[in-house]
Amino acid sequence: MDPRYAIRDTGSIFSPALIFYKDIIRHNIRRMVERAGGPSRLRPHCKTHKTREIVRLQLDAGVTKHKCATIAEAEMLADAGVTDVLVAYPLVGPNCGRLARLVHKFPRTSFAALADHAVGIRQLSEALASAGQRAAILLDIDVGQHRTGIAPGDAAVALYEQIARSPGLTPGGLHVYDGHNHQESVAERAAAARPFLDQVMTLRDMLTKKGLPVPRLVLGGTPTFPVYADVPGANIELSPGTCVLNDHGYGTKFRDLNDMQPAALLLTRVISRPTPTRVTFDLGYKAVASDPPAGKRLVLWDVPAHETVLQNEEHLVIECAEAERFQPGDVAFALPTHICPTSALHKQVYVVENGRVAEMWDVIARDRMLTI
Ligand SMILES: Cc1ncc(COP(=O)(O)O)c(C=O)c1O
Repeated sequence: MDPRYAIRDTGSIFSPALIFYKDIIRHNIRRMVERAGGPSRLRPHCKTHKTREIVRLQLDAGVTKHKCATIAEAEMLADAGVTDVLVAYPLVGPNCGRLARLVHKFPRTSFAALADHAVGIRQLSEALASAGQRAAILLDIDVGQHRTGIAPGDAAVALYEQIARSPGLTPGGLHVYDGHNHQESVAERAAAARPFLDQVMTLRDMLTKKGLPVPRLVLGGTPTFPVYADVPGANIELSPGTCVLNDHGYGTKFRDLNDMQPAALLLTRVISRPTPTRVTFDLGYKAVASDPPAGKRLVLWDVPAHETVLQNEEHLVIECAEAERFQPGDVAFALPTHICPTSALHKQVYVVENGRVAEMWDVIARDRMLTI
C-alpha cells in the first residue's frame, strides 16, 4: 500500500470506518486554489465532506466563498465562519422560510440561493420580504443536463427581471452546473461545455445591457473545473466539490485531475471466511455509497485477485482464490467509488495525520436539520 495511507494504530479504529487524510486534503485544497487561479475564483461545494473542519482548512487557504445543497450545509458553513454562502439549490415551500431564518441568524454572512421558475421566485420573495430579510438569487441555467434550470434565452431574461423587481430578492448572477459532461478526455469535455458557455455569456450580456447587475457566474463541478478555470474574468467562480477528497470514480476517469489525490478511504475488517474461497468483510452498503452498481462501489486495496459476489447492508463477500491468506480481524482498506454519498453514511470520520489517528470530525451536515 502507498505509505501515505498507512496507519500505525488501527486497533483504535472501529470498523467499518471512514478515514480522512488531513495532509492530502490540504494538498488537494492547494491544488484547487492553484488550478482556479487564486482563492477568490473558487466556490467549493461542501456536500462532498459535510464537515466544519474541511471548511476551516479552505478558509485558512483564503477561500471565502462556499457552495452547498441544503439548509443544514448552509448553516454549517455560516457557523464555521464563512461569510458568503450559496445554497445551490432551487428552494421552494417552507425551505424559503428557513433561508430567511438563516439570513436573520447569521448577519455577518451573505446568503444566496437558486431559482429557475416564476413560482419559486415568488415563494422566495414572499418568505424573505415577510421576514424583513434579503438574499441574492442566482438564476439556475440549464446547459444540457436537464436536471434543473432554464435554458439561456428570452424566458431566462424574463425570470431574471422578475428576481430584480421582487421584494426581498437581489439578482445574484447565473449558476451553471453541467454534471453530464463526463467525457474522459479534457479536450472533449471542453468541446462539449464551450458552446453552452458562449450562450451563457450572451445571456449575461443581454442582462447587463438592460441595466441588470450580474455579479457572478458560478460554473461547473470537478470534471469541467479545468475547462472553466481557463475562462478569464474576476466574476467567474468555479465550484468543484468532489476533488477535495477525490474517489475511485473520478480518479480513474479523469486522469487530467490526478494531481488531486484520494484523501478518504474506508477501513474494513475480515469477519468471516465462510468457504475456502470466500472472504467476508464488514463493509456493506450502509458504509459505502450504493449508487454505483453492486461490485463497483469500492476498490479493495492489497487484496489478491477477487470478485465481489454479494453486498448486503453490513456485509461484503468476495470470491478469492487466495482466501486462506485472510483471518478474522484482518484489516483492509478500500477506496470508495463515490465519496460524497459515502461521507453522508458516517456520523464521524477518523482523521489521520503523520500515520496516526489525530482527530475525530463530525460529519455534521449529514443531518437534514441543525438548528434551523
Ligand atoms: C450544483 C452542483 N455544483 C457543484 C457540484 C460539484 O460537482 P463535483 O462533485 O463534480 O465536484 C455538484 C455535484 O453534485 C452540484 O450538484
